[in-house]
Order: sequence, then C-alpha cells, then structure tokens
Amino acid sequence: MTVNRKGRLQDKIAIITGASRGIGRATAVAFGREGANVVVNYNQSKTKAEEVVNEIRQHGRSAFAFQADVGSREAVMEMVRKTVDKYGRIDILVNNAGLGLSGGPVLEANMDAFDAMLTTNVKGIIYCTQAVMTHMMKRRDGKIVNISSIAGLGTSVRPGNLFYAGTKGAVNVITKQLALELGPHGIYVNAIAPGLIKTDMPISNRSPEAWEERVKNNIETTMLQRLGMPEDIAYVVVFLASDESNYITAQVISVDGGRMNFITHSL
Ligand SMILES: NC(=O)c1ccc[n+]([C@@H]2O[C@H](COP(=O)([O-])OP(=O)(O)OC[C@H]3O[C@@H](n4cnc5c(N)ncnc54)[C@H](OP(=O)(O)O)[C@@H]3O)[C@@H](O)[C@H]2O)c1
Repeated sequence: MTVNRKGRLQDKIAIITGASRGIGRATAVAFGREGANVVVNYNQSKTKAEEVVNEIRQHGRSAFAFQADVGSREAVMEMVRKTVDKYGRIDILVNNAGLGLSGGPVLEANMDAFDAMLTTNVKGIIYCTQAVMTHMMKRRDGKIVNISSIAGLGTSVRPGNLFYAGTKGAVNVITKQLALELGPHGIYVNAIAPGLIKTDMPISNRSPEAWEERVKNNIETTMLQRLGMPEDIAYVVVFLASDESNYITAQVISVDGGRMNFITHSL
C-alpha cells in the first residue's frame, strides 16, 4: 500500500459521477492520489467501478462504488444519503457522467438520442447539485466541477452534433447560473470544456471509419497536434476542486490543446 502523504485534496469527501471509465476514472484516481475519499458513481460498469475503488484504496484512501443513473433524482438522492451516512459530509461534486450520441441533421434528428443526452448531461447535473447543495450550504463550503465540452462553446464545425452541443451549451450556462446562486453560500461552481479526449465515448454510436476521420481532423486542427488524455482533464479538475482555486467561480475553462482557438480563427 502507498504511504498516505498529504495531498492537495487531503481528507476531502468527493462524489464523482461516471467514474467507472474515461475522464471520470482518471479523475477519481487522481483524487485518491491527492488524499481524497471518493464515491465512484457508475451506471452500468460495476466491475470497472470496483477496479477504480481498488486503485484509490491502494493510495490509502477510502472509496466505494455506487450505482446510480444520474438522470434519476431518487437514485442520486440515495447516493448522496449513503455518502453523508458514511463520511458525514460532502466537499466536492464532479458532474462528469455524460453521453455523446450523434443526433443526425436536424430534419432527420434522432429525438431519442436527444432525450437521453438531455437527461444525463443536463438534468443529471441539476439533480446531483440539488442533492449535495444543502449539505454544502450547512458548512458554507463546497466545490462543484461540471465536465462540459468545447462543443458547447458555440462553434462546433461537426454536422450532426446539434443535440450534444446543445446540452453542453446548457451545461455552460447552468454552471454560471449555479455559481451566482450558490456563491453567497460558499459554494464554487466551475466547468471544464475538454476537446477530443481519448476515451470510449467518441465511438459510442459512430462507425470506426467516421471515428478515424474525426481523430485525423482533430489532430490537424489542434495546436498541440494530439488528442487529449483523460489525465489532462483530471489535473484541472483537481485544481478546481482544491483550495488553490479559491477565487475562481462561474468559469468554463477550455482544456483542448488550443483547438477552439485554432478553429475559431481559421474558418
Ligand atoms: N471524450 C471526449 O472526447 C469528451 C470531450 C468533451 C467532453 N467530454 C465529456 O466528458 C465526460 C466524460 O466523458 P468520457 O469521454 O470519459 O466518457 P466515457 O468514457 O463514455 O465514460 C462515461 C462515463 O459516464 C458514465 N455514465 C453514462 N451515463 C450515465 C448515467 N446516466 N448515470 C451515471 N453514469 C453515467 C459511464 O458509466 P457506465 O460505464 O457505468 O455506464 C462512464 O463512467 C462527459 O460528460 C463528456 O460529455 C468528453
């Protein structure tokens, strides 16, 4: 077992949604390394979530996996109840769980895909925030980090991305509104807008050929000329969840290797 040294999130209690895979997984592990105790939320990937829990425990921290669809208010309330029962408080919420489905062009739009993304990407954030905020307000202390996307910044050049981009645009605005409402209660709310990150998500309902083409195009239009890795996002979440960011709220921070700037100024 790794020696329990002081970390940037020492003894903090964090819930990370969608922590069984990808960005959420990397964030959960980074939190454990930085001294946090972590609730590893997942929806379907139980075994993977348990692997994450074991990795966190190897850092000498406490963790447990909790199945909850973030689109279900009741399930989210239960997760928060269990967290408070076990740890007595919640310091950090990372709203990471998300779905990235292709909706198609607007006339032939797949409304089921839209509904699924709206429920997970948008309502999920609201439900989780509602569930933790009363606990955070009592202690006048809390950090909420939402994982958005540069697709929500308004200049996505990918056809068929209307609904995903729309839900992430909503996340950006909701982040600022929540920061306004919760700031006086000592709760910080920020978002990270990642560029394309190497995880399972981007291939969820696209063909391998379409994915390859997209990766090639992304690398060519990213200043750093590479895809992002989950850890590239996790380090920024750690910063926004830590005391190092104690005068930052209501921000949407792009972590995209310079892609937004590149495409904004070259089209
Ligand atoms: N990858 C990218 O290029 C990229 C770019 C910009 C933004 N993002 C955003 O980053 C976040 C994470 O993306 P990722 O690429 O790491 O995705 P991923 O590899 O597909 O992982 C998604 C995670 O979310 C969980 N999840 C999905 N629906 C859920 C639900 N209803 N309730 C609870 N958990 C749920 C999954 O859990 P189960 O496996 O248990 O279902 C999984 O742990 C998302 O919000 C995404 O929109 C990703």
